[in-house]
Amino acid sequence: MLGIGAVIGTGIFVLTAEAAQKAGPGMMVSFIIAGVVCAFAALCYAEMAAMVPVSGSAYTYSYAVMGELIAWMVGWALILEYAVAAGAVSVGWSGYVVGLLEHTFGIDIPDTLVLGPFDGGLINLPAMAIAGLVTWLLVIGTKESATINAILVTIKVAALTLFIALAVPVMNSAQFSPFAPTGFVGISMAAASIFFAYVGFDAVSTAAEETKNPQRNMPIGLIGSLGICTIFYILVAAGVIGAPGLSTQPVVDAAGAVLEPGSRDLSAQCAARAAQGFKDVVCSKEALAFTLREIGWPQIGNLLGLAAGLALPSVILMMMFGQTRIFFVMSRDGLLPAAFSKIHPKFNTPHVITIITGIAVALFAAFFPVGQLANISNSGTLFAFAAVSIAVMVIRKKEPGRKRPFRTPAVFVTAPIAILGCLYLFISLDHKSIILFLIWAAIGLLVYFGYSRSRSHVGRGIIDVSEADPDAPPQPVPPLPGAPTPGYKDA
Ligand code: ALA
Repeated sequence: MLGIGAVIGTGIFVLTAEAAQKAGPGMMVSFIIAGVVCAFAALCYAEMAAMVPVSGSAYTYSYAVMGELIAWMVGWALILEYAVAAGAVSVGWSGYVVGLLEHTFGIDIPDTLVLGPFDGGLINLPAMAIAGLVTWLLVIGTKESATINAILVTIKVAALTLFIALAVPVMNSAQFSPFAPTGFVGISMAAASIFFAYVGFDAVSTAAEETKNPQRNMPIGLIGSLGICTIFYILVAAGVIGAPGLSTQPVVDAAGAVLEPGSRDLSAQCAARAAQGFKDVVCSKEALAFTLREIGWPQIGNLLGLAAGLALPSVILMMMFGQTRIFFVMSRDGLLPAAFSKIHPKFNTPHVITIITGIAVALFAAFFPVGQLANISNSGTLFAFAAVSIAVMVIRKKEPGRKRPFRTPAVFVTAPIAILGCLYLFISLDHKSIILFLIWAAIGLLVYFGYSRSRSHVGRGIIDVSEADPDAPPQPVPPLPGAPTPGYKDA
């Protein structure tokens, strides 16, 4: 439940359209590729999470094994993973809620206010608003209980099941041809984007310490949730592609070149084609609701929009929570200003860093297209996954006798496959995202050498380690007072 709660979100509800624009029906293969890479990375994550069960995720694991500089770079990359992902999910939420308002209540909000400048609008106000609301909830100390998570998972799974039940039986096989209009390159590019649909399973690995019989149950939780999501995703993708009457092939320009998702050119071409009566799923901001409406289930389409509207904010909450916790830990370690780890006297939450994160997320959500945000987030996530996969092998060699509640099966095969998979998806990302990642990494190095290194607690010999605990990592961090485990259960 925890895995599915954190994983199902904008990826399947929204990015399916982007993936179709990149790979056409071949996106079904993209879902499988991304799911398999995640499964290998998940097994590496689980060993680290069970062994270093403190806040901070991949940043903490890397600190414990590979030292401060690598940990800093991983933490820096995780800012992309979490904060930018929260922005992407906010934009995805906006697409569904705006569609719902329009189709259910006939409220037509001008595009200028509900789309970012790259999508043909000016500012995405609903996306900003949801980011603001989630920030407020986090500041006042909201945590998602296991019960709420279970309800939201049920809503999401019911919505996807209903979609599959209505769309799959009416599939038209002619829609699947040509299957791979952009070749394997297009399938790889779509896999790199759709990887976003699987991000979040690390929520499971952070619960390793609290799992009964982790050696048996962690892989069931991780691989099980990824497996279930993959099956849902492929069936949903098939339902979208096969929908009779829809155009599901990539939209091209006058010269026949495939247009970039989230670009002004694609928005203009989509508008022109819509005026001619084409029903391009790749142009929709709410692909699944759009598909249901077009195959004769308008009310169910609206209901699915409602389900997305209810369930996606919890994904934003988990992402932003993860971000604040990583900032908090980095600040505790002295690598970021101490003000970041200030705790609110009444709410007992790290309000300063939560508000800073919230402002950044709201700005991403206001101005950038969902696919671009997802790709940028993926670049940071893939870097972090690869780092954890390296760390797990390093620590096996360095400390073979260390207590491991969960051991990655065949780690010297599993981890290299995870690393190669992450590398392959990383280089399949669009050039803009790769360049942005490199610029972000360079800024990270400047900040580290200009600010953090000289202030590091470890560097200055400030030891926060509990000497009594022989298993403690070199830089353990006291848990955030009153902090919940995201999406897991009430503390
Ligand atoms: N996997 C999450 C989503 O698709 C981040 O929204």
